[in-house]
Amino acid sequence: MVGSRVQLAKAGREYKACCPFHTEKTASFWVSPEKQFYHCFGCGAHGTALRFLMEYDHMAFPEAVEELASRLGLPVPHEGGGGAPMPQDASLYELMARVAQFYAETLKGDKRAQRYLAERGLTTEIMQRFGIGYAPDAWNALLKRFGAGERDRQALGELGLIIERDRAPAREGERHYDRFRDRIMFPIRDSRGRVIAFGGRVIDRGEPKYLNSPETALFHKGRELYGLHETRLARSSLKRLLVVEGYMDVVRLHQAGIAYAVATLGTATTPEHLTRIFRLVREVVFAFDGDRAGRGAAWRALQHALPDAREGREIHFLFLPEGHDPDSLVGAQGREAFEKRLDSALPLSEYLVRELSAQCDIAHADGRARFAEAARPLVYKVPEGVYRELLLARVAEVVGLAPQRLQALWAGGSPPAQAAQAPARPRRGAGRGSLVRQAVVRLIRFPATAGSVTDAERAGIDDCSEAGADVLRALLDDLRERPLKISAQVLERWAAKPGGEHLGRLLEREEVLDDEAAAAVELRAVLVKLAHSVLERRLDALIAKQAATGELSEAELFEFQRLMSKKADRSR
Ligand code: UTP
Ligand code: MN
Repeated sequence: MVGSRVQLAKAGREYKACCPFHTEKTASFWVSPEKQFYHCFGCGAHGTALRFLMEYDHMAFPEAVEELASRLGLPVPHEGGGGAPMPQDASLYELMARVAQFYAETLKGDKRAQRYLAERGLTTEIMQRFGIGYAPDAWNALLKRFGAGERDRQALGELGLIIERDRAPAREGERHYDRFRDRIMFPIRDSRGRVIAFGGRVIDRGEPKYLNSPETALFHKGRELYGLHETRLARSSLKRLLVVEGYMDVVRLHQAGIAYAVATLGTATTPEHLTRIFRLVREVVFAFDGDRAGRGAAWRALQHALPDAREGREIHFLFLPEGHDPDSLVGAQGREAFEKRLDSALPLSEYLVRELSAQCDIAHADGRARFAEAARPLVYKVPEGVYRELLLARVAEVVGLAPQRLQALWAGGSPPAQAAQAPARPRRGAGRGSLVRQAVVRLIRFPATAGSVTDAERAGIDDCSEAGADVLRALLDDLRERPLKISAQVLERWAAKPGGEHLGRLLEREEVLDDEAAAAVELRAVLVKLAHSVLERRLDALIAKQAATGELSEAELFEFQRLMSKKADRSR
């Protein structure tokens, strides 16, 4: 597998190459196919095949697992389903690849389409890199080429490439027609590089400007980012991602050397997008056109991004001059000027303050009051922690109050409606400290929350060996079996038990827990996290063993696969 990414030379049973992780002239990168292991004597990079995929291809764990499994011919079991496509989709992927190839070839033979792309400033090299093609100006070009049999037509239909006519056809064999006709075709690839959908642009004028594949077994719009695969391949050590709106923007930016641009596919940024983004980088810039639609989209992006905001992450907003989109701007001004703009893009907090103060007249007291009211639900969307405190401080500064005072005023009102919808993520600050401690604190503060814990969540911490995990398990089991309502009862019942003497002290130090419903959600989230870290440790141990000894027993392999698929499911 490494061999498909790096030029390898055989050296005995092993292979040598120049290390893909650092620059070097002599080969010190060493791969053992037998051990599924690589090591660089130059820079020290080493790991298993899995690690290679994650590091070199910037794959997230579940994707790396799937890729690896498919290369080794192993099935990846999925719990619950609804996740990644199953093996029977393999032929659909294959058909998709052939269709993309067909469009790319058609482009080579079509002067008008070529001229259009040249006028848009695209080089042949970039067209190849993105696999850009052309769908012929005909009702049945694809049908003729790929739709000979009934089953072929069914597959084309499932992929959204042909459409069934409403009315009965005049002649047999004309029941369907091609979805994409006379359009420039942008293949949309998943993170493994497989074509899963297309966006088709009219040449010059026409409606709609872009026609996209419908949602299919392979394609889920809200999950994919156009250009992500190409960004990974570009390997410009990925530090930040630039999120833009259009296909052409992505392609043009990559061509200009800004090879970390991706686009959402005609949708707002979804939480799934953000999860993907922050798995890869800690810095993201959203770029929007300077017009009205662009500002609306930016505000929606801000609202979706707030639950993901936290210290250590940077979220910026870039507004382009009116009349420009990234494509036209990078064309007009070039990479350097564009990257300068990126470097000075507005931090999320500043954008929030700027936008809200434009809506409320903050020169006057009542305007500042409205500003504070409008800011409140937004601030509460940010998970509790340092970042939220800083945002709060910034808002308080504009309002002209001390942060503590503003928070007290906010707390006095009705609970913010938005905060209730915030994702179930343990608030940092409340019940600070280890995960075990966070769980225990919630259990003693609101003993009834034990009733909301499911058997599976409880079972997940069976093998947990963190400090205090035994007390947590005992407390949780006790409260699930014999429920209590108030803290004092717990302390009384536990006074004589091991660990009981700590419980009272723990509770005294907790000042900020006041919402039982939130505590229940948080308790469960903490348990899930703990279960995850148990799984993680076991996986690490197995990977270490595999790396050291080169083999795992059948039982261990089975366990490995089971843990990995569990993990893959979790991250979805
Ligand atoms: P734009 O209208 O801004 O187009 O749509 P663009 O990307 O600048 O394209 P060019 O430069 O005119 O070729 C932005 C994105 O919105 C989606 C597409 O993903 C497009 O790239 N879109 C737009 C559609 O899905 N359908 C449409 O009809 C228009
Ligand atoms: Mn454009």
